[in-house]
Amino acid sequence: LAKIEIKLADIPEGKNVTFKWRGKPLFIRHRTQEEISTEGSVNLSELRDPQHDSERASNPKWLVIIGVCTHLGCVPIANAGEYGGYYCPCHGSHYDSSGRIRKGPAPLNLEVPPYAFPDEGLLIVG
Ligand code: FES
Repeated sequence: LAKIEIKLADIPEGKNVTFKWRGKPLFIRHRTQEEISTEGSVNLSELRDPQHDSERASNPKWLVIIGVCTHLGCVPIANAGEYGGYYCPCHGSHYDSSGRIRKGPAPLNLEVPPYAFPDEGLLIVG
């Protein structure tokens, strides 16, 4: 299936849930207000792959990313690592809660797939 529909009410605030989409892990993270403010105020000059949080999350409450480390493709662990977002245990890459690479060997941010919110409470990825 090319598209996946996700009911957002099933994902509590503070949780990251993993789905499968086009054979890859898809992470949907219901971010807390604290995560939203932290990620929105990161100085882009600190970033290896500079992207503002608003370019990655059109609705700041919801982070939608592919759960494949941009180093060599392991699946990162949610709510772990020095930046509180994701940690890849294979070679130690740390991502923030916008999925941006902050430390370790990965060259790029976690990929944001195409997605939309067609209705209140509904997310479509693909
Ligand atoms: Fe993630 Fe190497 S595959 S750090």
